[in-house]
Amino acid sequence: RFEKLWVALALLLIVGFIGTVTYGAVGAGVKMVDESGGTVDANALNDHPRFGEPGTYQVGENEYEVYVVARQFLFEPGTNEPIRVPAGSTVTFHITSSDVIHGFEVAGTNINTMVIPGQVTQITVRFEESRSYGIICHEYCGAAHHTMEGQLQVV
Ligand code: CUA
Repeated sequence: RFEKLWVALALLLIVGFIGTVTYGAVGAGVKMVDESGGTVDANALNDHPRFGEPGTYQVGENEYEVYVVARQFLFEPGTNEPIRVPAGSTVTFHITSSDVIHGFEVAGTNINTMVIPGQVTQITVRFEESRSYGIICHEYCGAAHHTMEGQLQVV
C-alpha cells in the first residue's frame, strides 16, 4: 500500500540531488575577467611595496587586490590565514615567490598559474557566490611540496 509513496519519495530525492549538483556546477560563479592573465617582469618583492605586507586590499566598491607571496612551503596569505574576499567582488591576484618556482591553483576555478621568483603573476577573477576554495601548489618545489596548500574564502 505504501510502496507507491516510497517510490515517489525516492524519485523526489533523486531529482533533488540532480538539481543540487546542477545548481552547484552552474552557480560556481567564477569566471576570468581577463583571460590573458599573464606575468609582469619586476623585482617583485622590492618594486611592489604591498608584497612587504601581503594580504587583501580594497581598491574600489567591489574591487580587491590580493598580494600573495609563495615560499617553501606556504602561501602568505592563504596557508596560515585564509584569503577572504566578499561575494560579488572582482579580485586581482598579484602572486610572486620569494624562493623557488611554485604553482598557484585555486581548485574549482580557472585560476592556475606558475609563480616565478622575480616576477609577478596577475589574474583577475570575479567571485559571485559564497564558498570556500582550496589553494594548492602544483609545481614541485621541494620535499614538502605536497603539503603546500591554502584556502580562499568568498564570504
Ligand atoms: Cu610550492 Cu610545490
